[in-house]
Amino acid sequence: MGRSLEVTWNDGRSYAFPLIWLRDNCDCPRCLHPHTRERTFDLLTVPETPRVASAGLAGRGAVMVLWGDDGHTSKYEPDWLRRYAFESSDDDLTRPDVVLWDASLSGHVPRFDYRAVMESEQGLEAWLSALLGHGVAVVADTPCRDREVVRVTERIAYARRSNFGEHFEVQTETNPINNAYTALKLPNHTDLCNWERSPGYQFLHCLENAATGGESTLVDGFRIAEALRRADAGAFRVLSTMPVLFRFHDTECDLRFHAPIVGLDGSGRFERIRFNLGLFGVQALPPDETAALYAAYRKFAQLVRDDRYQIRFRLRPGDLLTFDNWRVLHGRLAYQPSTGKRHLQGCYVDRDEVLSRLRMSISAVTDAA
Ligand code: OGA
Ligand code: ZN
Ligand code: ZN
Repeated sequence: MGRSLEVTWNDGRSYAFPLIWLRDNCDCPRCLHPHTRERTFDLLTVPETPRVASAGLAGRGAVMVLWGDDGHTSKYEPDWLRRYAFESSDDDLTRPDVVLWDASLSGHVPRFDYRAVMESEQGLEAWLSALLGHGVAVVADTPCRDREVVRVTERIAYARRSNFGEHFEVQTETNPINNAYTALKLPNHTDLCNWERSPGYQFLHCLENAATGGESTLVDGFRIAEALRRADAGAFRVLSTMPVLFRFHDTECDLRFHAPIVGLDGSGRFERIRFNLGLFGVQALPPDETAALYAAYRKFAQLVRDDRYQIRFRLRPGDLLTFDNWRVLHGRLAYQPSTGKRHLQGCYVDRDEVLSRLRMSISAVTDAA
């Protein structure tokens, strides 16, 4: 016998499972702790190609393997094996069916009802799925209560703290530490891109919006990156490879991180955009690299404010704007504080927690069906 075990299902399809993979994934109570569900088997206790003493079928097509090295018996259910055959993945959430959007999303941002999100598993799943697919969703009729935005994050897991606190108040301040706490226009940006762990998701809860101006803007950063890749491959290469300094500092902290503006994963897919004119640091590069960076950066910045890609709308009190801060850039127009009060409360949730909660929600909804 070679390095794999060939399994054939009733429909005639077959797949060769590597023996070390089979041995490592035995789920008996000696190999997988029945309570923690963590592996207790140590793969170095068997050879790289474990020996099979015998293999056969038990009731309902389960594959039984008696291992030659340690005399251990393993049992694999056919449906479980099928899930891992043909290179399918156990987890498709981390590669959601991303729907890239442009200005045509205007008027069509997915909206979900607060009570459905907070009180039903289906409501939660629908909202989080939209957040993954479109990267933006509004939770409507969110009660205009202090810190309600944090309670919504607790429906998922917990808020991700930052130097701005567990949540932050977006309103004009006399001594602002951050451009958001002024009445100035905020060009589309990602928050906290000066952190290694830039937050995965951001929530902004509109409590009051009576001032003239202050409309919200959003743009799909992956769509922008795609447009740049098509229009100017050289500029795209610069932005997706050259680490750029982002920095925020005040009297309490000096938070810096170097990363490319367009972050790609190991397969070349868009992973995370970091873009914030206010947090773009003083770059210390040789002059020719500085020139190349600025040329590419300006092209990206132009697309980020291009009306072909951007949507603009007015938040109403009770609207909780939620978006993927690794993908969607947000901004607002300037407003006039003398004409009325504008007050949002914001916070962040990390990506792991959102994905985990969605997986749990999907299995709860499927089990109930
Ligand atoms: C922020 C921000 C937008 C707004 O607080 O991060 O970008 O509409 N606010 O005030
Ligand atoms: Zn076992
Ligand atoms: Zn912001």
